[in-house]
Amino acid sequence: MQKVLAIISDAGGVGKTTIALNLAYVAYQKGKSVVIIDLDNNLSINVFTGIEQVPYEKSIAKVFTEEFTGNWNLINLFESEEKVVLVPGSNRFNPDVISNFKRRENVLKRQLKKYPLPYDLIILDNRGGSDSIIDNSIVAATDILIPSRIGAKTATISQSIKKIAANIAELELDPPPNILGVLPNEKESGWKVHEQIIKGTRKSLAAQGIKLYSAIPHNGWICNSNSWQIPIAAYRPGESYINIFEEVIEDVFDETKTKC
Ligand SMILES: Nc1ncnc2c1ncn2[C@@H]1O[C@H](COP(=O)(O)OP(=O)(O)OP(=O)(O)O)[C@@H](O)[C@H]1O
Ligand SMILES: [Mg+2]
Repeated sequence: MQKVLAIISDAGGVGKTTIALNLAYVAYQKGKSVVIIDLDNNLSINVFTGIEQVPYEKSIAKVFTEEFTGNWNLINLFESEEKVVLVPGSNRFNPDVISNFKRRENVLKRQLKKYPLPYDLIILDNRGGSDSIIDNSIVAATDILIPSRIGAKTATISQSIKKIAANIAELELDPPPNILGVLPNEKESGWKVHEQIIKGTRKSLAAQGIKLYSAIPHNGWICNSNSWQIPIAAYRPGESYINIFEEVIEDVFDETKTKC
């Protein structure tokens, strides 16, 4: 069964794009075919992969028009011979583009149904916050992952989850996407305050029945891997936190966790 994983967060700069790319590569290593759809307009994926900006007409923006006829622009990533591809974003893609659609939060799901992408996993990389493009992600998703940069804001992650859950409820999806969990990012090793934040977060998320993954460290290799345009599992295959990306992918494909 195809999975659609939306990566969303209240805040920007929490590592969504870094996580999307690394999850895609780990899934590929596990034999899955993957397409990343760039729904952000900051073109970080282009920077982190060395892919040139495409014209508006060849970007995701075209998919959000009535003129789209299934001609997905798929760009190969990681020399994976079409097993990992990108639907590129556009710096002109924003919620205004879809404001004329009657059911504007359903556009992506509708296009994916009409013009299926034959990949095991679709990863939706979003901008931070909440808007009608992110609603499109939620509607299309089978699963949602919520990265959180460890810091003062992590303490309010329960509130964010409540907001996301309320948004899902409002969209009246049947079935609703499964919230996989919260993935903390940029943990500083040896910082007591980070340990305390994680402990508190674990407690509050447990009360909500939400999984908290182990934290990805703040790590120069991860930053470098983006600069070098190579996923961490290819650049530094021995790094222990690669297990965390593997665990997320296992959870995505674990049918026992899928809600009926
Ligand atoms: N664990 C990490 N260790 C070190 N640097 C990291 C880590 N995770 C992300 N970064 C760096 O932090 C910055 C923000 O990451 P990224 O662009 O992935 O976040 P984002 O949530 O996608 O941001 P945006 O909301 O702008 O799209 C990037 O420069 C990235 O290289
Ligand atoms: Mg991003």
